[in-house]
Amino acid sequence: MNIALINASPKRSESASRALLSDFKGLLPGEHTVKSFTMNRPSIDEEEIKELCGCEAWIFFFPLYVDGIPSHLVSCLFQMEQLGIENKDIYVYGISNSGFYEGKQNRNALAILKNWCDKMGFVWGMGIGFGGGPALSSMKGIPLGKGPKSTLGSACRTLANAVLSHSTGDNLYISIDFPRFLYKVMGEMGWRQGFKANRGKR
Ligand SMILES: Cc1cc2nc3c(=O)[nH]c(=O)nc-3n(C[C@H](O)[C@H](O)[C@H](O)COP(=O)(O)O)c2cc1C
Repeated sequence: MNIALINASPKRSESASRALLSDFKGLLPGEHTVKSFTMNRPSIDEEEIKELCGCEAWIFFFPLYVDGIPSHLVSCLFQMEQLGIENKDIYVYGISNSGFYEGKQNRNALAILKNWCDKMGFVWGMGIGFGGGPALSSMKGIPLGKGPKSTLGSACRTLANAVLSHSTGDNLYISIDFPRFLYKVMGEMGWRQGFKANRGKR
């Protein structure tokens, strides 16, 4: 099977979506052809769209922006809609990660992606709404399925199984396995450091 992994974060470094994508890639057996794509601008090359059309499963990894999907990704989806894609036997999956701790925060973003699938005539596979994404970029050394990535590991395995069996499932809403209050304390420390570095006032 040809599988497309699409990183739709606009960040060039320290991206949670990129960290998720690389962990997820490790769950796909070697006999499949896995192609990585980046959608970090408001348009995609038509050559890339052609390549995407040759993949039976598309998995989007993206950040939650203002309770929805980032606007550059909306533009890319719109571009594909305008162009029209003949192959309808494409299963689409999405992993949305949010700054908020509660995975449910991502439900509207996943619903937006599903709506787009319905309009395109594609099959919506399933999604994962993951809360606590910003912690991931500093946890690259921790294997998926271990410690703070335990629940994420089992959710990703469920999604990978759905991809490999060309099937659908219910969306899963999960959080990083890290105490909520500590996550908040660390987030606030990060904000203070950011303010200081940019000479902002508390
Ligand atoms: C413009 C903008 C809007 C955001 N909106 C939300 C939001 O509505 N809810 C939320 O939980 N996080 C929000 N975030 C935080 C991101 O979802 C979070 O930092 C995520 O981990 C970024 O993923 P990435 O590193 O893959 O880009 C927002 C971040 C930015 C830059």
